[in-house]
Amino acid sequence: MRVVIDKLDNFGRGITHINNKICFVIDALPLEDVDIEIIYENKKYMEAKVSYYYKKSSFRADEICKYYSLCGGCDLLHLFFVKENEYKENKVRELVHKFHIDTEVKSIVYQDEYFYRNKIVLHKDGNNIGYYQKKSNSIVSIDSCLLVNKKINKLIEYIHNIDSIQGEILIRTSNDLEHSMISFFGNDNFDFSLLSMFDVIEYNKKIVTKEQYIITNVGHKNYYLSLASFFQVNTKLTEKLYDEVYDNIRLLHPKIVLDLYCGTGTIGIYISDLVDSVIGIDNNPSNYYDAINNKKLNQSNNVSFILDSVENVIDNFQDVDCIIVDPPRKGLDKKSLFEINRINPNSIIYVSCDLFTLMRDLSYLQKNYIIKYIKPFNMFPRTYHVETISVLCRKTIEK
Ligand SMILES: C[S@@+](CC[C@H](N)C(=O)[O-])C[C@H]1O[C@@H](n2cnc3c(N)ncnc32)[C@H](O)[C@@H]1O
Repeated sequence: MRVVIDKLDNFGRGITHINNKICFVIDALPLEDVDIEIIYENKKYMEAKVSYYYKKSSFRADEICKYYSLCGGCDLLHLFFVKENEYKENKVRELVHKFHIDTEVKSIVYQDEYFYRNKIVLHKDGNNIGYYQKKSNSIVSIDSCLLVNKKINKLIEYIHNIDSIQGEILIRTSNDLEHSMISFFGNDNFDFSLLSMFDVIEYNKKIVTKEQYIITNVGHKNYYLSLASFFQVNTKLTEKLYDEVYDNIRLLHPKIVLDLYCGTGTIGIYISDLVDSVIGIDNNPSNYYDAINNKKLNQSNNVSFILDSVENVIDNFQDVDCIIVDPPRKGLDKKSLFEINRINPNSIIYVSCDLFTLMRDLSYLQKNYIIKYIKPFNMFPRTYHVETISVLCRKTIEK
């Protein structure tokens, strides 16, 4: 069936309509004239793949990765990077409009197109090492990945032929690429050469190295990082993301700040020099213990941490000047949203990795807050994901 693609959907797929039904087309760009083959259909929509291109988009990029259609790591490798950034910025604008959010959307911030990730999860079976194919458990064997930094690619090459490493493998590096760590399962023949390659090794769930964490950095701050802790994956852009929070805190000059979903305490510590006190909350024990060490490492004596779920402890707070939130993709739960509104801080800085839950939460918060702006950050180039920072100020300053 011959169709012309109208636009991209939120997951980077082409959209067209067939008999008034929406059809999502894999690997198709706006204005492309293509033959498609329907691969799935239900009452509401269809999914299709392209069987022939009559006219390709002038923004179609050469596919520089031989695993692209197989591994499921990237969604937008076939689009010029400059157009990917435009698409992501527009996606924020469209959703702001759709959810009736009254705000300004600023220009997207971006940096490296490739080799930006400091973390990878792979699977190994025999000498096959790679990603799981989309919606399957079969391994797409890779030699390297365009998304991870050059050090991780070298380490992938190194462990390729180490037979004792099997199953799921996690590799992370520090942002300066000086340090690395690996977690894997394996048979009894532990390969001691790994000790010269990694600073931290977790083998069958046990740390076998002297060190259990590496030191990484974001801008002017250093942070301890354990294998099981959360850390922003973009090696360079994280600094710009945190600087955006820093610049706002400098302008807003709050005294008491809550850093909700604080991970290893990174944002709270980053801005701690500007405020009287920061309280960080996170429910992952590994994050919490790293956060305590990070506080000492940075001599941030005005920062403290609580190991608990935000929704369990948020009702204990009042008289907070600014609340920073950086929740997982599901956004803020109803209770936390309600309590943030009750605490009624002068300002809220919302760091989000999911546009839909962000819009839902902003719709609620805009009753009492002016949303000054939303700034998109392309933290995950070549995928459809977008990170944003929204800055909110209370409508009436008097409490
Ligand atoms: C997107 S990360 C943000 C981390 C941190 N702000 C940073 O920049 O590294 C979300 C964090 O929320 C934590 N988390 C998830 N659900 C939570 C909850 N209900 N209460 C507290 N923390 C939670 C996770 O452990 C994770 O560290």
